[in-house]
Amino acid sequence: MILESVIPWGRSLDEYRRMFSLTESDLTKTVLGVGDGPASFNIEMQELGHSMVSIDPIYAFSAEEIASRIEQTYDTVLEQVRLNADQFNWSDFRNPDDLGEQRMRAMKRFLADYETGKQQGRYRVQSLPTLSFPDQSFDLALCSHFLFLYTAHLSEDFHLQAIHELMRVASEVRIFPILDLTGQLSPYVKTVTRECQKSGFSVEQIEVPYHFQKNGNQMLCITKKASNP
Ligand SMILES: C[S@@+](CC[C@H](N)C(=O)[O-])C[C@H]1O[C@@H](n2cnc3c(N)ncnc32)[C@H](O)[C@@H]1O
Repeated sequence: MILESVIPWGRSLDEYRRMFSLTESDLTKTVLGVGDGPASFNIEMQELGHSMVSIDPIYAFSAEEIASRIEQTYDTVLEQVRLNADQFNWSDFRNPDDLGEQRMRAMKRFLADYETGKQQGRYRVQSLPTLSFPDQSFDLALCSHFLFLYTAHLSEDFHLQAIHELMRVASEVRIFPILDLTGQLSPYVKTVTRECQKSGFSVEQIEVPYHFQKNGNQMLCITKKASNP
């Protein structure tokens, strides 16, 4: 991965809770965060006593390199949000500056934890569509703002392989959002649903309490059926 191709933008545990409708019981499961980037989800879970693993190709870089990339891109990202402010609901964030401050707080928490978390194996350099974990290593895999969102950049085949790989390593996979970057339902949702059902998995689109991108308050939840261990 080339760091110059990444725009780091990290969310908090509170956002993850709402994006994935996470219950207290979900938090006690063995959790894999997929493409967590500079989110503070992992460190906030750790602080609550729930250890988890995050994977992302960006973890090949040092804290200084990621911090410098955040510095380089932050103003441009916020400018884009300001220009497209009408595409978002401003109930949880007051305005783009408030959003920027909250995201920066999350990314700083991540950066402060990053080298320790890496040594503890909580941040691992791995990339979809192939992961090195043994079968069924996790109860729950959560993928925020990567699959479906980058429909224009990642092929349907990549999505199918990635989701089958996630179902190999976890019993349940939740993906949020199911919209692409233009705010349209990703056309891959239909194919992924059909192919997962063919493989014997249950697939549901579930409304969640997180609603920032307009019409973007649904996650895709894929589970193994009881008869399909
Ligand atoms: C928009 S960020 C989302 C960060 C975090 N999940 C959140 O919601 O705050 C997308 C992340 O996907 C990561 N990514 C890119 N290619 C990947 C791959 N092949 N497998 C897993 N993650 C990848 C990027 O490095 C980046 O950190």
